[in-house]
Amino acid sequence: MAPNASSNWLLSYCTVLFPALIWLIFRILKKIIKWPNTHESTAGIPPGYRGLPLIGETLQFMAAVNSSNGFYDFVKVRRLRYGNCFKTNIFGETHVFVSSTESAKLILNNDLGRFTKRYIRSIAEVVGHQSLLCASPQQHKHIRNRLANLFSTSSIAVFVEQFDQLVVSALSRWEHKGTIVILDEALKITFRAMCKMLMSLEREDELDVMQKDIGLVCEAMLQFPLRLPWTRFYKGLQARKRVMGALEKMISERRKRGLEAHDHPHDFLQHLLLMEDDPNSCGANEALSLSDAQIKDNILTMIIAGQDTTASAITWMVKYLGENQEVLDILKAEQLSLAEKSSPNAFLKLEDLNDMPYASKVVKESLRMASIVPWFPRLALQDCEIHGYKIKKGWNVNIDARSLHLDATVYNDPDKFIPSRFDDESKPYSFLAFGQGGRTCLGINLARAMMLVFLHRLVTTYKWKVLDSDSSVEKWALFARLKSGCPVHVTKIGEDITPP
Ligand code: HEM
Repeated sequence: MAPNASSNWLLSYCTVLFPALIWLIFRILKKIIKWPNTHESTAGIPPGYRGLPLIGETLQFMAAVNSSNGFYDFVKVRRLRYGNCFKTNIFGETHVFVSSTESAKLILNNDLGRFTKRYIRSIAEVVGHQSLLCASPQQHKHIRNRLANLFSTSSIAVFVEQFDQLVVSALSRWEHKGTIVILDEALKITFRAMCKMLMSLEREDELDVMQKDIGLVCEAMLQFPLRLPWTRFYKGLQARKRVMGALEKMISERRKRGLEAHDHPHDFLQHLLLMEDDPNSCGANEALSLSDAQIKDNILTMIIAGQDTTASAITWMVKYLGENQEVLDILKAEQLSLAEKSSPNAFLKLEDLNDMPYASKVVKESLRMASIVPWFPRLALQDCEIHGYKIKKGWNVNIDARSLHLDATVYNDPDKFIPSRFDDESKPYSFLAFGQGGRTCLGINLARAMMLVFLHRLVTTYKWKVLDSDSSVEKWALFARLKSGCPVHVTKIGEDITPP
């Protein structure tokens, strides 16, 4: 039974607001103790409102997080007021938001090592301290090098065919359903695809358990880190333990059978285990392999980083296309002509994706408009200057990718869905859907491939009508996810659209 509004409120108060309040009081006390040192000159620092003494603008931030436009509204209002570099104070910490191509270049390039990635503690606790997302800069380099090897052209080629099989099979079931919630379907497909590629997990019962646990881990990532049994954070930690247990079991079973056994699947886990056991993988300066703990944390990281983001991107893309008939017509012509050229019942190959120039621009434009990862948090490691403003060591500096993507001085008519705007090269650092520099998304080619395959199958199989045009985003979600999930009514091509 659905809980009523007051119990919902009570639940969110107990699990989110109350712990946040305690934490805030703790930070305020910490600040009070340091009070004499906080009188600083405001000359040259970014504009912005410091908010109420000590608590800053935390309450306004929390109100935005709890609104139907999501926490991004907080940033938008201030950017309009102060311009593309402003400062605020949230949870007792200074946050600067920047949204120009020049500042993005300076921070993401990070040639002088002035910035490091910043993650909140709850994220490190649930994804693991060995995760690529939370590791120290030195460790990060090492882990990233190892993982990058896995995203070779040949692995992506295998993945494309596997992903296409999953999409074809899922779409064949839609015909009888009529109404489909795109986000739910995309989450199922991307989850299955990631689990197969990473660890060859395919049994339905195991997938269901794992998907539920990963969902709990994701929910815990933005929660206050309070380990009490009823909190989402605690439930996320328990779910993490179960996922780690399942991975340990897989690893020990593979080792028992011998890692070189021919019947082992060729998945990411296997590659990482072989690297670990290869005596030649130890160089003179550093051990080049990953430990079991690093392997487990990073398999979990890749599922989280790859599934929700890609499923959300697919959902926005279907919504934008449903609302832009002209774009859809051009796309359909391209995709139907490709389908005519291919042999019937053949699965898509990586080369086929190179034959989709317009679809590639549709993907890019969807990612620009949706800005699935709206901003990238960094920590200033030393005093420096951005936009002529002074940035102090220890401040949080957030690159506001979403504002950049919607900046009218960078993109003409930024609120319109115009894939052909990418006919020409984009200005450097103006398209940040996958980030840039040393922390660029590792799954960039995989994500693009998934979006293209999904697009091809959808437009060559079905017509669809978006049933809910609401653009509200989910509260407390890690990425920009459509609250409605984008329900659509689908009809097989060749049949008429009958409104529900
Ligand atoms: C449309 C889908 C996706 C989007 C929009 C996306 C976006 C991003 C962005 C913006 C970053 C960098 C954040 C920063 O610099 O702070 C990132 C990092 C990352 N992404 Fe993706 N991503 C997507 C899909 C994937 C997939 C499929 C994987 C695959 C496994 C993946 C794995 C990662 C990893 C491991 C990182 C961390 C890289 C590092 O810190 O060195 N992502 N992603």
